[in-house]
Amino acid sequence: MAKFFADFAPLSSDYSGAVVGFVDDKINFCPSFSKLDSLLSGSLTRSVSKSKFTGKRYEVLEIIAPSAELEEIDKVLLVGIGSAENITEFDWVQLGGVLSSALLASETQKSSVYLDRYGDKSCDSRIAVNVALGVGLAAYSFDKYKTIKEEDDDKPRVKLKSIEVTFAVSDSKGVEKIWKDSIDPVLRGTNLARDLVIEPANVLSTCDFVKRTMALQDNGVEVQVLNRDQMQELGMNALLGVSKGSVTPPYTVVMKWMGAPTDENKASEPIVFIGKGVVFDSGGISIKPSSKMGDMKGDMSGAACVTGLMHALSCRGSRVNAIGIIGLVENMPSGDAQRPGDIVTSMSGQSIEIVNTDAEGRLVLADLLWYAKEHFKPSVMINIATLTGAIFIALGDKRAGLFSNDDAVSAQITDSGIATGELVWRMPMGTEYEKLIKSKFADMRNAGERGGDAIFAAQFLHRFVGKVPWVHLDIAGTATGNVTKVSKSWAAGWGVRLLDRWVRDYREKSL
Ligand code: BES
Ligand code: MN
Ligand code: ZN
Repeated sequence: MAKFFADFAPLSSDYSGAVVGFVDDKINFCPSFSKLDSLLSGSLTRSVSKSKFTGKRYEVLEIIAPSAELEEIDKVLLVGIGSAENITEFDWVQLGGVLSSALLASETQKSSVYLDRYGDKSCDSRIAVNVALGVGLAAYSFDKYKTIKEEDDDKPRVKLKSIEVTFAVSDSKGVEKIWKDSIDPVLRGTNLARDLVIEPANVLSTCDFVKRTMALQDNGVEVQVLNRDQMQELGMNALLGVSKGSVTPPYTVVMKWMGAPTDENKASEPIVFIGKGVVFDSGGISIKPSSKMGDMKGDMSGAACVTGLMHALSCRGSRVNAIGIIGLVENMPSGDAQRPGDIVTSMSGQSIEIVNTDAEGRLVLADLLWYAKEHFKPSVMINIATLTGAIFIALGDKRAGLFSNDDAVSAQITDSGIATGELVWRMPMGTEYEKLIKSKFADMRNAGERGGDAIFAAQFLHRFVGKVPWVHLDIAGTATGNVTKVSKSWAAGWGVRLLDRWVRDYREKSL
């Protein structure tokens, strides 16, 4: 588990250990590195000219023990940023990710990153925290169950237990404040989500998941748990049907963060985030093929995202009212399991014919959306779910599908996706798809024919949202197995940064 510790210090000329600096494609050093280069009698410039390093974005040059006089410098890492002109916030996060991987690969536990200028521009605080975020995101790995020493492995994994990075910046106090107040909580929320996704279903049963959400109470989040009896009372039979075959009980967890300024509390209707939390999806009686079935321990990635998001929002004291609702169930076959052909009456009163027990996520969300709409009068509902294999076929693992009844919120989330690199792509909805949902014996069926299942699922959910502005994010492609510069792990913790950013840019500012 490569843990990441960030520290912020004022710029100084006491170079020692591993020293990192950014260089553009014109090989402009920052002032600290120009100074370092002269202290090293031009050895940085010489190394660059003798190497293939051109300063292209994401290129890294490692120079070991550059000087006999300055023995305390073990190595210098130069990280290329390419053109300093068109570099975005997310590019800096990715540069941090590349740096993180380079530090881990070279087993550099402690390093100092000099960030006083890049190219010919001066460095602002945002850049420093974005680089730090990238380092932290890419340093994540989950190996709590590995007990065999690395030397015994065929392919040695990263050996470091932690990396400690000191960022040398002109305004270290200011940067540290931004880091602690607004960025580190998001990193922790993302890593919390990843831990939940990777934890297997024998460890993270629905009950254990509930216990983990309880920890949010320490941040001032009110956590309320609905058990099977209470959900039965509410009529949440669509959700309950999914869990019938499992010995693990169903739960709905409501996490309330009322952070809006109190005098505005009345006026500020909450944003509600809803997550699919199928702790394991075997498919039920419509059982899945065994190949890769184990990946279905990650079918609670939506719930993990909502939990990580609530952690981030509460930790940074976000000035909004946000409610996270997750439905925790396990989809298993058994003598008591739901069958194809069964008809359930959802909380909304609408009946659903179960034609495929593997189309279970939409059943869970149907009751959660209705519950949210009835109980919390949301200003907007956003649900996030590993809902359909079809969205992976359509968009692959680099973009999530966005379905919505609201153009403005869709545009905002698309924009937050670009800002955070958690990209979405809006998918169509429309009455032309309604015919597919018709059932012979009930108000609707839970699955259609081959083709367009991601849209089918969205159209199905739409029947449970009423007139509330609503966005559905299908993250079946992006949540797991999606390796990027900022995520080297099977679980991306996808959506925490996206939704935190949307809250920050479009909800906090409008208050
Ligand atoms: N959890 C799956 C969707 C999924 C697939 C998530 C791959 C992550 C990776 C969902 O419950 C499911 O099984 N969907 C079915 C629906 C079908 C039976 C209509 C699917 O996509 O095959
Ligand atoms: Mn399924
Ligand atoms: Zn599922």
